Amino acid sequence: MQVADVVSGFEREYEMARANESALAGSVAEAKQSIQGSNRKEYELSALERDVKTNQELYDVFMGELKGTAAVSGMQTVVARVVDPAIVNDTPIKPRKFLVVSTAFVLSLLLAIAIAFLMEYLDNSVRSAEDAERKLGLPLLAAVPMVELAGGISAGLLYRDAPKSLFAEAIKTIRTGIVLSGIDHPKKTLVVTSSVPGEGKSTVAIDLALAHAQTKRVLLIDADMRRPSIAKVLGLNNTHPGLSMLVLGMEKLENCVYKIEGSTLDVLTAGSIPPNPLELLLSEKFKALLVELGEKYDTIIIDSPPVQLVSDAVVLASMATGVIFVLKADATPFQLARRAIFTLQRGGAVMFGVVLNKANFRNEEYYGGYGKYNYHSYYGADEDKSASKA
Ligand SMILES: Nc1ncnc2c1ncn2[C@@H]1O[C@H](COP(=O)(O)OP(=O)(O)OP(=O)(O)O)[C@@H](O)[C@H]1O
Ligand SMILES: [Mg+2]
Repeated sequence: MQVADVVSGFEREYEMARANESALAGSVAEAKQSIQGSNRKEYELSALERDVKTNQELYDVFMGELKGTAAVSGMQTVVARVVDPAIVNDTPIKPRKFLVVSTAFVLSLLLAIAIAFLMEYLDNSVRSAEDAERKLGLPLLAAVPMVELAGGISAGLLYRDAPKSLFAEAIKTIRTGIVLSGIDHPKKTLVVTSSVPGEGKSTVAIDLALAHAQTKRVLLIDADMRRPSIAKVLGLNNTHPGLSMLVLGMEKLENCVYKIEGSTLDVLTAGSIPPNPLELLLSEKFKALLVELGEKYDTIIIDSPPVQLVSDAVVLASMATGVIFVLKADATPFQLARRAIFTLQRGGAVMFGVVLNKANFRNEEYYGGYGKYNYHSYYGADEDKSASKA
């Protein structure tokens, strides 16, 4: 009994020792874990301490530099730091002169071209050979310069009075053009006309007759029985019988014709103005007269009224070899002239060409190389002046 008690006492003690052992083993494991945790923290701590040390060093360096800078700048508070220094530009950014000037140049050039085209488009006069051909469809026989006439002088006698002038040269050019226009038909009846009054028909007719008369037998007829002017320009007697009397059969040819002394030029003035000039021109008698005169003269030059107002010129032109169409340069609208030319052509006229009268020779377009010639001095040399006075 006592042994059993002793054994059971030992067994209890053993059990208790076993329980103590397992409790101690748990404590050991716990302690091991806590030791591992503290080792890790120690490692983290040392890493953090390194960081602190590095940052401390950086801070010290920074503070050292800051103090140094503050000392240099008189301990003023730094409000800004120059990160990138400004660079001074040598060339101004504004205004961009080249761009402005070149744009202005191009724009003004375009504007000038547009204005030139507009002016050309709006300009309906004729001022050059090219204009005459393009706008009227006829060749230019010559451009006759505008001359400044001293009181009482008529442009109709300039060919005789100023033979060396540009004016006379232009008349000679017309003559040459006409001679060349029908070299196989030397006998010619020419009608000088224009679209409106005052363009220079009578002037061209008289001067052309004077020019032709140097080489041929020429008859100048004033068939403008509405506003005759040839007698006046040539200083002939107004009451002398003329074309009207001749067509009416009231006078003989030799009584009506004036012979210009010292030349081969004869003149048949309009005579007394009839009430029905067109009827006279349309008459068979007039036609027969032209045929008769054509046999006597090499060239017949007929001055006529303007086409725009009456049909006389159309009738005369239909019977002539050709028509010289006078146009006042830079003045008469080309549409008006074109209509007159069309009317003449419809009547059966042959158009020899255009004479651009009263042209401003300062405008070089008219005469090419002769453009700079001083047209004011149409009396040219002194001997021309004395000739005009004679
Ligand atoms: N080239 C010119 N330079 C200066 N004046 C001129 C020129 N041609 C003509 N004249 C003048 O112009 C005026 C009209 O000329 P002219 O009498 O020859 O024209 P016209 O066409 O015959 O006129 P109308 O229709 O009245 O018969 C005249 O005083 C004349 O002297
Ligand atoms: Mg006239």
